[in-house]
Amino acid sequence: MTASSSISPPQPMLPHGLAGRLFGRMMERLNRSAYERAASLLDLPPDGAFLELGFGTGRLLEMMAARHSDGFFAGIDASPLMVATAKRRLDRRHAARDLREGSAERLPWAEDSFDAAAALHCFQFWPDPVSTLCEIQRVLRPGGTFLLVLRAYGARDREWLPNPWSRTPQEVDDALALLKKAGFEARREWPDARTSPVIVATV
Ligand SMILES: C[S@@+](CC[C@H](N)C(=O)[O-])C[C@H]1O[C@@H](n2cnc3c(N)ncnc32)[C@H](O)[C@@H]1O
Repeated sequence: MTASSSISPPQPMLPHGLAGRLFGRMMERLNRSAYERAASLLDLPPDGAFLELGFGTGRLLEMMAARHSDGFFAGIDASPLMVATAKRRLDRRHAARDLREGSAERLPWAEDSFDAAAALHCFQFWPDPVSTLCEIQRVLRPGGTFLLVLRAYGARDREWLPNPWSRTPQEVDDALALLKKAGFEARREWPDARTSPVIVATV
C-alpha cells in the first residue's frame, strides 16, 4: 500500500465513520433549499421510476417518495454509510426502492428503466463524467429528465477533485457541453447567484 492510498478520502467525497454521520446531518441542513428546488423541477408521473446518483443521506429520495407514493426509487452512492442511512429512511416510508453501493460510471440497471434522474453536489467526484452521463442517458426512458445540480461557485478549485471539468470556473458550461455530447438537450436553470447552479437535461 502506498502512502497516498492509506489516506482516507475527504468526507464530502465519501462520508464515513462517526464524522461521516455528523457530516451527513450538516450537509442535509445546508442543502435543504437545493433538494426543494430539485423536487419542484422533477416532473415524475405518480407511479414513475426515479434514479439518484450520489444520494447522500437520501433526503431528496425521501421527498420524492412522499410526493409519489406509488413510485419506484433507485440510486447509487459510493459510501456504505450513506447507502445504509438512505435505505433506513426509505424503509420508514415503505417506499419501493433499489439503493446500491457503487460508482456512478457503471449503472446496474437496464436501458429505459427511469422516468427521471438527478445528481446533486456530486458531479465533481465522478472519475469519468462522460461515461456517467452516457449511462444516465441509457437508463432514462425517451422524454426522461435529468437534473444536475452543481456546487456553488467558491468551491471549484480543489486540485484533488477526480473530475477535471469540475476544477475550473467554466464548470457549468463544461457540464452543458458534456451533456450535449452524451445526447441530452440541456438548459441552465440558475435563478439566483447564491444558490447551486442547476441544469435540466432531457433525452
Ligand atoms: C457532497 S455529497 C452530496 C450528497 C447529496 N447529493 C446532497 O446534495 O446532499 C456527495 C455524495 O456523492 C457520493 N459519491 C462520491 N463519489 C461517487 C461516485 N463516483 N459514484 C457515486 N457516488 C459518489 C458520496 O458518497 C456522497 O454521498
